[in-house]
Amino acid sequence: MDRDALLAALSLQIEWGADEALAEAPVDRFAAPPAPAPVSPARPAVARPAAAPIPLAPVPAAAARLAADAKDLNALKAAIAAADSPLRETATNLVFSDGNVTSGLMLVGEAPGADEDRQGKPFVGVSGQLLDRMFASIGLKRESDFYLTNILPWRPPGNRTPTDAEIALFLPFVLRHIELADPRHVVLLGGVSAKTLLRAKDGITRLRGRWHQLPPEHGGRPALATLHPAYLLRSPHAKRDAWGDLVLLKRTLDGRVAPS
Ligand code: URA
Repeated sequence: MDRDALLAALSLQIEWGADEALAEAPVDRFAAPPAPAPVSPARPAVARPAAAPIPLAPVPAAAARLAADAKDLNALKAAIAAADSPLRETATNLVFSDGNVTSGLMLVGEAPGADEDRQGKPFVGVSGQLLDRMFASIGLKRESDFYLTNILPWRPPGNRTPTDAEIALFLPFVLRHIELADPRHVVLLGGVSAKTLLRAKDGITRLRGRWHQLPPEHGGRPALATLHPAYLLRSPHAKRDAWGDLVLLKRTLDGRVAPS
């Protein structure tokens, strides 16, 4: 690792509590050690064949037309507001985007939560704060270095997982959003974003940690799948993987590895 990567790693490790004497869960040092796991014979690595893209729920024709007709980001935001969805009735504010649209890097999350709904901006709650700290640790600031949106522009009631029909309704808008923002690289935050935009059956733990190409019908851009910050808040053990993804992103943006 070079100096920049080491400094970034160090700052995130401090941020994530590596210098704290207490672990997040108590450790019973008097407990009997766990029995060793049975050793299974090594199996040769088998390359997995590329999976066929999964079929998505049908996209309503009216949504596809509204999205295609939007000539710029303002028009797209107005088109999303006009799209008929029950989510629009229960949410407070449309959550469209934040950050620097000309940065060349676009992050796509899942759906707004309560804080985002209140403020009308993506990733402003606790998971957004973690996201900002993670990206800051590789030298990227929201105001200048990346742009953010979500698969859904409205908060699902009670923060439930988006349904297939909701995802299908808003997919043409997200794809048009990516097209109009025209980023060189896309980061897919969490399973809903990664599976939807990659049209993949695999879960995020299999998709993360490497560059993919969005399917041609989704714009064919390099896209890195990584863990959602809300998941990292619930599963601190996964921070190591998230850190690896950030380093890969940084190296790619610096031109030290190709996004493939
Ligand atoms: N989680 C998301 O996926 N998006 C947000 O904007 C906030 C939380």
